[in-house]
Amino acid sequence: MSGTQSRKRSRWSSQIAFMLAAAASAVGLGNIWRFPYLAAKHGGGIFLFVYLILVVTFGFSLMIGEVALGRMTGLSPIEAFRKLKSRYVFIGWILTAIPLIITPYYCVIGGWVTKYLHQYVLLMSGSEGVDTGLFVSNPAAYFEGFIGGAPGPILLYSVVFIFCVYGIVLLGVQKGIEMSNKIIMPLLILMSIALCIYTVTLPGAMDGIKYYLLPDFSKFSYKTVVGAMGQMFYSLSLSMGIMITYGSYMRPEDDLEGSVRRIEIFDTAVSFLAGFMIIPAVVIFFGADKINAGPGLMFETLPNIFNKMPFAVGALFFLLVLFAALTSAISLAETCVASLHDIFKLERHVACAIMFVFTVMMAIPSALGYGVWSSVKVCGMAFLDFFDFVSNNVMMPISALLTCLFIGWVIKPDVVEKEVTRCGGRFSGKWLFVVMTKYVAPALIVVIFITFAFRFKI
Ligand code: PFF
Repeated sequence: MSGTQSRKRSRWSSQIAFMLAAAASAVGLGNIWRFPYLAAKHGGGIFLFVYLILVVTFGFSLMIGEVALGRMTGLSPIEAFRKLKSRYVFIGWILTAIPLIITPYYCVIGGWVTKYLHQYVLLMSGSEGVDTGLFVSNPAAYFEGFIGGAPGPILLYSVVFIFCVYGIVLLGVQKGIEMSNKIIMPLLILMSIALCIYTVTLPGAMDGIKYYLLPDFSKFSYKTVVGAMGQMFYSLSLSMGIMITYGSYMRPEDDLEGSVRRIEIFDTAVSFLAGFMIIPAVVIFFGADKINAGPGLMFETLPNIFNKMPFAVGALFFLLVLFAALTSAISLAETCVASLHDIFKLERHVACAIMFVFTVMMAIPSALGYGVWSSVKVCGMAFLDFFDFVSNNVMMPISALLTCLFIGWVIKPDVVEKEVTRCGGRFSGKWLFVVMTKYVAPALIVVIFITFAFRFKI
């Protein structure tokens, strides 16, 4: 044991505060653009079904394991593994490296979202910005011009976003993260519901809804399962140290298993809603094959649609995305700050200052990688794509595999059961947890890893 808890550990003020924070971390860009696109690509209803099964089995087990590791040690990943079995501290290092890599590029995308929200606000207020004309007439050309253009604006919006993230993290667990979630999350739900109602009542929306919900078995293959599994990691914020860190702030008397179930339901519900929000609109205006991946969908196709509607719809959508991205980025940043705090016993404001500078510096290559630095490629990819690939496709499967093996075979599931039932009650999903962490999850992760290693296009 390292004796790292020299100061009193911060705590969530209630069980709801923990659930809200974990759900806020989970609901992010992954739910809004990644999920609808994958569902459309992998056979609609059949993808939804596979995804749901994976969430309640695999996702459930991994999340229970991570939150329990955090709560039983009261520490962030590196110190948690050191405390439990110091030989395995390297797993904690891998888990901590992931948010260190993700936070900067996620904040760059957050910067793009901030810019788009700003554009819609300008349009709504009737003021002509320098480039609002092109933004309305040709969103694809606008987006390429923005990310490929002068470094100043891209960096400025990214830094504004990073500043907001660390500003909230600096205020601490209760006054910063908890408070911001209490305000943002209800608004996020209301906005999602409002936008869903708006799109599903557009004329012709039924075709899109059918496309989204009806299973298309011809599109079902093992790639559906692999795609759903990758999305589950991404969406639930698993295997990146976040749930260990957030679990370390959880009160011992709170219901761990019940909380995890509710977080999963919430995250999945938001993903489903996002599908209703996006797929019918794209199908109505462009046809089903336009539901492509990533920035293309969110920053080109959707603005093309929103620009045919009242500008308030675009503004509402990008405010929703901004909120989702902000709360997820906060959880990524908090994991890094908590690690600095635990390892080096740094005060929160010092850890935040160090991480702020680090994030800005590391965001620069991602922000400029499609523009002035576009000639520099890492393994054939722009910086942002490379960081995304390494963290999500390489490091996350490895850390998930190691975490499962650690829980299943080194400390043993009984230790987790003890933590789950610490204040009475029983661990109703225990058999599922044992089978998943010991056998099924490691086997599935090896499959996902091999698939990505061979660079199948998911
Ligand atoms: N779960 C969040 C999302 O769906 O966006 C947060 C997140 C996941 C951030 C994966 C980054 C990441 F690579």
